[in-house]
Amino acid sequence: MIENLFATHPIKAMPHVDAGEPVEGDIGGEVTLKRVLTAKHLIMLGIGAVIGAGIFVLTGTAAAQFAGPALTISFILAGVACGLAGLCYAEFAAMLPVSGSAYSYSYATLGEVVAWFVGWNLVLEYLFAASTVAVGWSGYFNELLSMLTSATGWNFSLPAALAAAPFTYVDHHIVATGAFLNIPAIVIIAAISYLCYCGITQSATVNAVIVAIKVIVILLFLVVTFKFINTDFWHPYIPPNEGGDAFGWAGVVRGATLVFFAYIGFDAVSTAAGEAKNPQRDMPIGILGSLAICTILYIAMAAALTGLAPFRELNTPEPVATALNYVLGTVAAGSTASYVLSGMKILVVFAALAGLSSVVLVMLMGQPRIFYTMSNDGLMPKPFGKLHPKHRTPYVGTIIVGLIAATLAGLFPVGVLGDLVSMGTLLAFSTVCIGVAVLRRTRPEIPRAFRVPMYWLVCPLGAAICLFLFWQAFKTLWPLLIGWTVLGFCIYGFYGYRHSRLRRKPA
Ligand code: ALA
Repeated sequence: MIENLFATHPIKAMPHVDAGEPVEGDIGGEVTLKRVLTAKHLIMLGIGAVIGAGIFVLTGTAAAQFAGPALTISFILAGVACGLAGLCYAEFAAMLPVSGSAYSYSYATLGEVVAWFVGWNLVLEYLFAASTVAVGWSGYFNELLSMLTSATGWNFSLPAALAAAPFTYVDHHIVATGAFLNIPAIVIIAAISYLCYCGITQSATVNAVIVAIKVIVILLFLVVTFKFINTDFWHPYIPPNEGGDAFGWAGVVRGATLVFFAYIGFDAVSTAAGEAKNPQRDMPIGILGSLAICTILYIAMAAALTGLAPFRELNTPEPVATALNYVLGTVAAGSTASYVLSGMKILVVFAALAGLSSVVLVMLMGQPRIFYTMSNDGLMPKPFGKLHPKHRTPYVGTIIVGLIAATLAGLFPVGVLGDLVSMGTLLAFSTVCIGVAVLRRTRPEIPRAFRVPMYWLVCPLGAAICLFLFWQAFKTLWPLLIGWTVLGFCIYGFYGYRHSRLRRKPA
């Protein structure tokens, strides 16, 4: 029994893979995923998945309640944790270019039951992130409607009961809010699921356009606001601790756990490994390239936001617009600066909508691909492993994931879902770090197109930092995570364990 639970998926050295070549599943005449993605697509997918609610929604809370101007250090700390995990993902994704991401890497190194646990936690990362970010999208969409209403005098706003979640989570209890359904969140998930159903090329192209919009607006924001930065707001850089996690170094670390959410998604690049033209070369470029670009943009944004307004003013769900409002209050009405800053505010709403859409898109692309791999291994029901004969996408999984994500987004608020996303991701990251070290010892002979430098340091350090950050959230949200894990193991016991392909005797 124990032997079965910890059986590992055999891995063999992967031959060089080229465009058009199938690598997954039984390929004797079967439909396979399409190898069409280039390094550029992969970097864009990474940026698409990363820049979203983290920067447009959460930064304000992190600065105002925990880190102050040292928000930049929080971003650097979270960036280091992700950088270490990113190196490990790059080694695995180039060596095992399949769609299962951390699930497949764990199956190859730590055994089936650990792989199931990781795969189950990836649901928290991908499916729940799609729902969380869709809820953030709905907030910005409502903001856009109210801007349109005040600009035109016509009422574009949705009734409040149709634009918010009916439930929230307070003190370990689910309570009703009086609202009925978050319709915009449901609509964005439905639209993006349809795009994912239609094909990887279409999804990657739409993603690239959206990413271009959000990155251009962020760069424009940095350039336009540069001359309004007041360096006095950066003093004291680390405000003295006010008790608990409020400021001081404790606040900087707490801020890092919060902004960790902003980095989630670079690993989603690895779920596209089965569709990359040259995964051995391009996976490390996609994962590490997107992470590097996002880290630089995040640190610059954190410095700009805390330099434009006193950090305590940023305690809002739209900190970028709040910083602009603060600066607008300091310039003469009717001046060129006031027009430029007001225009910038409108662009920020569009960038946020674009940014959040691409996060939802990449997450909704990633989850069915992980289920697809799990289904091929027998751990998930067969329909998840079905590919569309024409579009060559895992369409059944895409539809099911879309329906569940839309239900969650329509019913639940952003806070609860966001913490669960971070916990699931951190568990996956730490397992991948451990997996790289294990495989270096157990299978040193496998050719690795990319090798983690100083793996004996990077892997344990990456795992330790991720587990430390995980613990910060687990301390308060453990009942939810334990409940989720128990549910996962029940499903494994009743389905996965019995249907695992690894133990099935050849006919
Ligand atoms: N990193 C993604 C975001 O910030 C999940 O929205």
